Amino acid sequence: MFHKTLLVPCLFFFIGVASSHSEVASCNSDVEVFFQFFFKVYKNGTVEKLDKAVPRVPASLDPETGVQSKDTQVGARLYAPKDSINASAPKAPLVIYFHGGGFSTSSAASQNVHIFVNSLAARANVFALSVDYRLAPEHPLPAAYEDVWDVLRWVAKHACVGGVTGGMEPWLNEKVDFSRVYLAGDSAGANIAHNLAMRVGLENFHRVNINGIVLIHPYFLLEQPTASLLAVNEQMRNNITKLWSYVCPSGNGSRDTRVNPTLDPLLPMLGSERVLVCLAGEDPLIDAGKNYGEALRWRGGKTVEMFVSRGRHHVFHLRQPNTKEAAEMLDRVASFLNLRSVESTINAAKDDLCSAINSVY
Ligand SMILES: *[C@@H]1O[C@H](CO)[C@@H](O)[C@H](O)[C@H]1NC(C)=O
Ligand SMILES: *[C@@H]1O[C@H](CO)[C@@H](O)[C@H](O)[C@H]1NC(C)=O
Ligand SMILES: *[C@@H]1O[C@H](CO)[C@@H](O)[C@H](O)[C@H]1NC(C)=O
Ligand SMILES: *[C@@H]1O[C@H](CO)[C@@H](O)[C@H](O)[C@H]1NC(C)=O
Repeated sequence: MFHKTLLVPCLFFFIGVASSHSEVASCNSDVEVFFQFFFKVYKNGTVEKLDKAVPRVPASLDPETGVQSKDTQVGARLYAPKDSINASAPKAPLVIYFHGGGFSTSSAASQNVHIFVNSLAARANVFALSVDYRLAPEHPLPAAYEDVWDVLRWVAKHACVGGVTGGMEPWLNEKVDFSRVYLAGDSAGANIAHNLAMRVGLENFHRVNINGIVLIHPYFLLEQPTASLLAVNEQMRNNITKLWSYVCPSGNGSRDTRVNPTLDPLLPMLGSERVLVCLAGEDPLIDAGKNYGEALRWRGGKTVEMFVSRGRHHVFHLRQPNTKEAAEMLDRVASFLNLRSVESTINAAKDDLCSAINSVY
């Protein structure tokens, strides 16, 4: 394995630009592998995560937007938009959101994730469920893929089946329209959303209707480095490309269809007809994201929209949520979430029948 032999260069240390504690530590020869922004693994096996500077914040009632959040028993934070849980409110869509962070850091409670999902619930007027999943390298993939599948099945327990809802979470039982469920995420979380949608299609999972998926700056790779990847320095490029094999040691490297879906002969089986891919002009991953969108459109037969934030970097919406480009991206995501497809209208009719059954019994 590449990480067993990797030597960590002490360049930053010797040229004297190391100012923070973490940069100095990165030059420590005790370090076996170092993925910038994400984690270090020491030779003695200790894993150090590098997202400690991002505060964790509790669920709350956000005074600015009126969005209410709470932590659920399934290890995910649920957001309800203003007025959505009062008796007279109509049912609203649900977005299941997977945070990014290199499959190895971050959480639904991370302040930047919380702020973004809160703003998504407010802007699009949707429920959102922001999911915590097991993190690598302690829990290598497919641990995260398995966790999110369990969360989807937990969500589906709340959908009406034969006039009965079997879930424990009243906001979902009473106020979510299960004909309009979306899977969304950024970076590694977008990769997770894609792979969950594949599983939905392959297992013919119909208990909820996945009305669309939203992939923001997805983490995908191609076999050969693309122009956007070649535009960054070699160390950064290695950080990006080697991450996959490190977090998924049992996989096939860049030939693995879970990180390189363009190679996947089963791509048309994706369990969603509509796809929105958000890309950032300055993101080294933009080419792989475009390729994914094109493959799904032409080979997968899906309705694919692509939205590019020009001049912006990977996951800029988390770092600069107050920029014009972040607001434009949020607007685009919100309009995608609020378009009803023909299929969802048919399913909504079934859902109404279900409420009628519920009110009789
Ligand atoms: C492993 O090594 C690191 C860096 O030298 C050190 O900080 C940590 O305490 C060590 N952990 C154990 C369990 O020895
Ligand atoms: C309930 O929600 C509706 C909008 O869906 C709003 O007009 C109304 O004021 C809300 N009622 C209460 C008591 O919050
Ligand atoms: C990631 O980049 C840093 C320099 O910023 C380098 O020290 C490290 O070895 C790189 N990691 C990998 C796995 O290539
Ligand atoms: C990994 O490669 C093997 C052999 O080429 C293939 O059968 C398998 O489907 C691949 N798995 C993934 C997840 O791409």
